[in-house]
Amino acid sequence: AAVHQHRFVIKEAPHSKLCSSKNILTVNGQFPGPVLYANTGDTLVVNVQNDGSQNITIHWHGVKQPRYPWSDGPEFVTQCPIRPGTNFSQEISLSDEEGTLWWHAHSDWSRATVHGALVIRPANKTNYPFPTPAGEVPLILGEWWKSDVQAIVNEFVASGGDANNSDAFLINGQPGDLYPCSRNDTFKLTVEKGKTYMLRMVNAVMNNIMFFSIANHQLTIVGTDGAYVKPFKTNYIAISPGQTMDVLLEANQNLDNYYMAARAYNSLNGIAFDNTTTTAIIQYRGNYTPSALILPNLPNFNDTNASFNFTRTFKSLANKQHPVDVPLNITTNLLFTFSMNTLPCQNESCGGPNGDRFAASVNNISFVLPRIDILGAYYKNVKGVYRDEFPSFPPFNFNFTGDSLPVELQRPDQRTQVHVLEYGTNVEIVLQGTSLLGGIDHPIHLHGYSFYVVGSGLGNFDRDKDPLNYNLVDPPLQNTIAIVRNGWATIRFKADNPGVWFMHCHFDRHVNWGMEMAFIVKDGTGSQQKLLPPPPDMPKC
Ligand code: C2O
Ligand code: CU
Repeated sequence: AAVHQHRFVIKEAPHSKLCSSKNILTVNGQFPGPVLYANTGDTLVVNVQNDGSQNITIHWHGVKQPRYPWSDGPEFVTQCPIRPGTNFSQEISLSDEEGTLWWHAHSDWSRATVHGALVIRPANKTNYPFPTPAGEVPLILGEWWKSDVQAIVNEFVASGGDANNSDAFLINGQPGDLYPCSRNDTFKLTVEKGKTYMLRMVNAVMNNIMFFSIANHQLTIVGTDGAYVKPFKTNYIAISPGQTMDVLLEANQNLDNYYMAARAYNSLNGIAFDNTTTTAIIQYRGNYTPSALILPNLPNFNDTNASFNFTRTFKSLANKQHPVDVPLNITTNLLFTFSMNTLPCQNESCGGPNGDRFAASVNNISFVLPRIDILGAYYKNVKGVYRDEFPSFPPFNFNFTGDSLPVELQRPDQRTQVHVLEYGTNVEIVLQGTSLLGGIDHPIHLHGYSFYVVGSGLGNFDRDKDPLNYNLVDPPLQNTIAIVRNGWATIRFKADNPGVWFMHCHFDRHVNWGMEMAFIVKDGTGSQQKLLPPPPDMPKC
């Protein structure tokens, strides 16, 4: 397996969109950032030099980092930030990941502009489980704010209210023809009739699940989150922030060009949000009579079924080359609730409901980031940084999605608290959304692992009935799963990667409000079951 060296210089660089220009934080001046290529099992060594003016960390989303959380990246969870003027060399060992993943900053909202695709091709002498495409292209869904992103975050956190929407969605850094001053830069993918192309899709949007479709073309989904799935055809996709998808596009149409388009899904009818559409163009090579561009049909912005049903379609390949390994004898059964909350305001009155400030929680704990990283504290046995014994409240038989939930659930506790898992336990977690403040979808992401999604549903998880319908034969292997609004999803994994691993909603405003927690997975007894020591240049707090 190869070792790939890269240098990431974090720096401000001017970029113009939507008729104006501003400085944004970038890697090497690029937005979106550089695409990294590797083969399964390779190692990446990325020297991150912070030439910006704010603290930053870089996360390798979906890379399991076996026994080596030191390179994982979430600020104050596995490392202290890389301060301006300093650098940190991250070693990223790929194991069985194959397909598209991505990297992004993991320090406040800096990931809005600091992100890029990580393409992992099959190892030497192995192939895709489908005919090799004639071409491939990363397709990154992103966002653009006309004003400074960090200023927006600071303002909304201070106000206790909600975050402002961005001013445009983007495909590969470009808003597309439907936004002002954007037409000349619209992203174009040139194709040849009769050939098949692979779109390596990444949803790098901050706060929205996105619908995506291509006019007059069917899409064939072959992978998600760096693992293959049984190929299936669809007219549209729904992709969560954090999620990646490998999509085959057969160029089989007769006009010279077609639009691809994406827009946000938002289950909260009546709440103001950005319903604008970003576009890019599929351009056929050859002699065609110029034709008018056709927009694809996207599901309605509030079509929960369109999002939920698509999310439930995935199945693992589950064949000899790509077997499934679903834990069957569950030793740790957990239920985590994901709630929107409010907390008393520090000022006289805040911008949230009833003059409170918005908050969010996992099992009624609104997470507080510590001042030194949890991993370092765990490794060096520093007391007082976090508490363990993560609460198992509320109970299984509770009505989480009813009309009026008890008021004690409205106001969570605020703490830095982790859940400790013994090495090698087979873990099942029911991720249950609640109807507090109306409820909303939550794309939940776990670091350090891929998990099998064995079931999902609307309403309350039913402990007696729902497990009977679990898919234990070919469930998809993912690192991010959208819990549908007021619904649930069940995940399973074997806790065989020791370390500290973050789990959080991939909507960044929910992260600001506290919808996150961390696992500590203890060392096993075998020599290959222990945390590796930290590198010498680990940033200091
Ligand atoms: Cu995509 Cu915690 O990250
Ligand atoms: Cu959320």
